[in-house]
Amino acid sequence: MRSILLLALLLIQSPLQSTDQQIPKITVIGTGYVGLVLGLCLAHLGHKVTCTDIEKNKIDLLNNNIVPFFEPELDTLLSSALKNNTIIFTTDIPQAIQQADVIFIAVGTPSNPSGEADLSALESVTHTITENLNAYKIICIKSTVPIGTCKQIEKLIRENQKKSYDFDIVFNPEFLREGNAVYDFLNPDRIVLGTSSKRALEIMQTIYASFKHIPFVITNHETAEMIKYAANTFLATKISFINEIAHLCEVTGAHINLVAQGIGLDPRIGPHFLSPGPGFGGSCFPKDIQGLLSQAKKYNIDLKIARACLQVNEEQKMSVVQKIITHCNNNIQDKKIAILGLAFKPNTDDIRYSPSITVIEYLLKHGAYIKTYDPQAMHNMKKLFPDIEYCSCIDDAIQDSDLIVIMTEWDEFRTVNIQKIKSLAPRACVLDTRNIIDTNTLLKYQIPYENMGNAQSYTLITQ
Ligand code: UGA
Repeated sequence: MRSILLLALLLIQSPLQSTDQQIPKITVIGTGYVGLVLGLCLAHLGHKVTCTDIEKNKIDLLNNNIVPFFEPELDTLLSSALKNNTIIFTTDIPQAIQQADVIFIAVGTPSNPSGEADLSALESVTHTITENLNAYKIICIKSTVPIGTCKQIEKLIRENQKKSYDFDIVFNPEFLREGNAVYDFLNPDRIVLGTSSKRALEIMQTIYASFKHIPFVITNHETAEMIKYAANTFLATKISFINEIAHLCEVTGAHINLVAQGIGLDPRIGPHFLSPGPGFGGSCFPKDIQGLLSQAKKYNIDLKIARACLQVNEEQKMSVVQKIITHCNNNIQDKKIAILGLAFKPNTDDIRYSPSITVIEYLLKHGAYIKTYDPQAMHNMKKLFPDIEYCSCIDDAIQDSDLIVIMTEWDEFRTVNIQKIKSLAPRACVLDTRNIIDTNTLLKYQIPYENMGNAQSYTLITQ
């Protein structure tokens, strides 16, 4: 992965270094996952970028060459951007707006209790931009926003401007995955630009000139806004679908990994996002599907598939709990359970909506003794569950346990020494919710196990 990324970094030349065309000055508002990756990758591509945030702590860390969260490759990009003076981090948002040609907005749009996107951060940024417009600017929204938001923001600025400066709103959704964010940014499948302005389009295409070999989807605001929601809902639906088929595999004797492969070879279906697991988590899928459902409800449209996708996902997390209960002969009290993996996916320290939370919550409530290990996410989980035992390695977590539950497919768990499991936890069963452990080896060492969808290790026949 690292070598592919480095190759990608080398292959992508800056579009601006070799040309003397006017280089747009870029400001990014919000230095979370999306904003920081965007800022650092644009700096890597040769742009001059100012990244801003209201959190002084975060800006101080970044100025001291420290990435405030774990995401592969960001540290390398940060060091070189600081060294080459291609990036500035500041809390002075008004000044950063005034000196920019293009302002990217990448602030959070979390769900409010009714499932709608909370746009308060976006509204506050809009207010600051309105106050500080001093020339023509592009306001490019990266945050996932309900359909119609760009038009509302445009109206809000026009109505509140003290002096009438021209500006354009562009919606440019982000499709990067946490844990692969830098790679995804530098290797996009497509770039979506929602705008009706030719002037804005030309400048945005200059910014993304490195990617002219890939499709640009140029459309209106509403279509671009919808593309983001539809993409995430579709991907999540694939996961819920395969999770349901996995249940059926368990009672029929079929093997889910071969089923997924057998259907994924059909190009109309494709091989991706067909891995069963403990249910999807993260800050995007659950929030965006909920957001789409509540938007549709306003128009009296019931998105049945999206609703079912979320419901299946909630049940999926509980199906892991049910498997644990069954392994413990219906008595969890005082059972020693090792939870391997807390992050909602590997290569991140993010635990938002992680299925591990549902599982730990239930086990704690029913008296289990939990030991856990995750390579990156333990500091975050400690804030939610301070009283479970956090271990510094896999061996400590599994020692003497009755059950070992693999919740996240970190590489470290894929390559776990199975013989060692037998010696450290002789009576333990393995519940592999990510289907990463070789079933033949588990059988060889007579370790009882269960996974998702009766997955079986196999040799792929290619001819
Ligand atoms: C997702 C999308 O994949 C990105 O394209 C999008 O930009 C992002 O949301 C966003 O809207 O910001 P992300 O949530 O970071 O990215 O991570 P994914 O790799 O999509 O995984 C989401 C969840 O689905 C994880 O819990 C993962 O374990 C689960 N998953 C994924 C499965 O259970 N099975 C699969 O086959 C794939």
